[in-house]
Amino acid sequence: MSWSRVVHDLDEARAALAEPGEALDLRAPTRLDGDWADLGFVELVAGELVRSLEVRLPDLAATRALGARLGAALRPGDLVVLTGPLGAGKTSLAQGLGAALGVCGAVTSPTFVLARAHRGPLPLLHVDAYRLRGAAAGDPTLLDDLDLDEGLEQGVVAVEWGEGLVEALTHERLHVELRRPEDETDGTPGGRVARVVPYGQRWSVVPAAES
Ligand SMILES: Nc1ncnc2c1ncn2[C@@H]1O[C@H](COP(=O)(O)OP(=O)(O)OP(=O)(O)O)[C@@H](O)[C@H]1O
Ligand SMILES: [Mg+2]
Repeated sequence: MSWSRVVHDLDEARAALAEPGEALDLRAPTRLDGDWADLGFVELVAGELVRSLEVRLPDLAATRALGARLGAALRPGDLVVLTGPLGAGKTSLAQGLGAALGVCGAVTSPTFVLARAHRGPLPLLHVDAYRLRGAAAGDPTLLDDLDLDEGLEQGVVAVEWGEGLVEALTHERLHVELRRPEDETDGTPGGRVARVVPYGQRWSVVPAAES
């Protein structure tokens, strides 16, 4: 997938968006005005517009495959924030991450243990902050016990229900928002849709990772 094509003007952006291929992340060093917004760009940090990837996931295998594709682009210090309602596929995506990272042990829901460290060539710390999210939003020190900083030093950290909790850890992070399309009455039965939003300069220098 092409992660990080920088576009400089609207014509270039339109041309790139017209290319076939589901996965395209364009960023433009400019200001968000109506034209850029119309093309689906958002301003994540001042002066940096990003157009996220939206990927349709017809089944569980597709969710894991997206995780594996993202996982193949990860390196130590990367934070992946997994969001979406209950049962959206966050753990399934983390399973794909784990497979790509080559970690030991089955990646299963860490809802009750909160965090599970998987050893491997690129270790994965898999966190489920569901039970913390209310309390930790008011008291960030509740996250300290999970040693997320150490997890980032050693490898990759993936946090389910992490939105609003872990952003302070690093500006360089990848958000994956999962949802069920039928919730949106777009007529598509089953499956999921993932929206991948990269934050920070780190993702502007990731080389294309072909699936
Ligand atoms: N693309 C998909 N299409 C259909 N079903 C899927 C898809 N991806 C995952 N699932 C299924 O959705 C269910 C929930 O998946 P998963 O446990 O990964 O969700 P979750 O977001 O981690 O849930 P929780 O909020 O409880 O942590 C599983 O039965 C899984 O097989
Ligand atoms: Mg889960």
